[in-house]
Amino acid sequence: MPQLSTRVAIIGAGPAGLLLSWALRDAGIDSIVVENRSLDYVLARIRAGVLEQGSVETLTRLGLGERIASEGLVHNGIYLQFGGERHNIDFNALIGRTVTVYGQQEVVKDLVAAHTAVGSSIYYEAADVAVHDLESDAPRVTFTHDGAEHEISADFIVGADGFHGVCRASIPAGEIDLYDRSYPFAWLGILADVAPSTDELIYALHEDGFAMHSMRSPHVSRLYLQVDPADDIENWSDALIWDTLQTRLALPGWTLHEGTITEKSITPMRSFVASRLQYHRLFLVGDAGHIVPPTGAKGLNSAISDVTLLAAGLVDHYAGGDTKLSGYGEAALARQWRTQQFSQWMTEMVHRHPADAQSGAFDYRSQLGQLDYVTHSLHARRSLAEQYTGLPL
Ligand code: FAD
Ligand code: DHB
Repeated sequence: MPQLSTRVAIIGAGPAGLLLSWALRDAGIDSIVVENRSLDYVLARIRAGVLEQGSVETLTRLGLGERIASEGLVHNGIYLQFGGERHNIDFNALIGRTVTVYGQQEVVKDLVAAHTAVGSSIYYEAADVAVHDLESDAPRVTFTHDGAEHEISADFIVGADGFHGVCRASIPAGEIDLYDRSYPFAWLGILADVAPSTDELIYALHEDGFAMHSMRSPHVSRLYLQVDPADDIENWSDALIWDTLQTRLALPGWTLHEGTITEKSITPMRSFVASRLQYHRLFLVGDAGHIVPPTGAKGLNSAISDVTLLAAGLVDHYAGGDTKLSGYGEAALARQWRTQQFSQWMTEMVHRHPADAQSGAFDYRSQLGQLDYVTHSLHARRSLAEQYTGLPL
């Protein structure tokens, strides 16, 4: 059996795992990444689309900013639409900060290209990935690759293996609590070959439900619709999707341009936080430790901020310090709970709650009141701008 040895064994080659490995390499710290999917699958996965300003700065500092600078779409703000009106929230004018629309898929593509260029150790299509001896000074990872069993011994193991991964599940049940919350709605997302009909993202609360207009490039639009979590994508023909988007995003004098739908899927919504992101020699980053509902675009950005904090802790550890590394979990969770609150707030504000007729009607009017306040109060607009563009680390 091949015996491998490294300082940090990273499980998962999503954005969190690939970025951590790259940041460690930048600091001269050796790592190996183990991923259970194929490289093609990892590259094709379509997910988030908005980078906070701090995320762009982190990626740029690590030499990954070239394509973001040339192809990313810098947005000064967003639109909030409700009650037949569309209101611009200009983050740049309010607090001097922006966000960049650049698909997660592109971030992953840049990371894979960077790793490939330097020949990083990344095992794709690894089967039966398991972690062992987490409480010892020499934790191990075992997996099967190309039909052969492999073992990695490491100083630390990092679980960057997403919500369904093995790392969080390897922490003994009595040692970890899981806090979660589900929502009575899901997002149907599409990619369409059509120029965006808007200059900034539109988040719209309509009586029939939430709708959103985002984009990926000057030629590709990304749109979302609130649907029932039990709904099936087979129930949604392309024509029905466009009709529903036309209704929910409608504004007098504005046209939503339609195009060929190239991808469509339904994603459930969940808020979830693990009570700890460190268990002895195991650390959790990104979706392995927490999930937000997508409204507010915080999933990918949280993964990037976790990685920034953990990389700083590991660099400090190998330089002889240990306070940053032992403080990682607390620092990352403190930031995460503020992000959770923001994502929950944005989500509750712009989705139609399918409660019974009476409280549903009350909630809808209360949400309109909240949106009215957010769009008209300078303090509320600034607060939204500060949280949407990203809290400081
Ligand atoms: P992941 O991207 O999940 O990466 C984890 C990696 O670990 C994957 O490559 C996986 O294959 C691998 N892995 C899993 N199990 C194992 C194992 N046992 N062994 C080895 N490897 C393993 N956020 C937004 O802000 N906006 C959005 O619109 C949005 N849309 C989303 C749509 C979907 C369908 C999903 C699932 C998430 C979405 N998110 C969105 C959230 C955002 O994409 C995530 O927060 C982000 O991907 C987190 O990165 P990560 O690297 O922590 O986890
Ligand atoms: C996108 C996703 C989000 O969750 C969001 O809040 C904004 C944009 C997107 O995929 O473009």
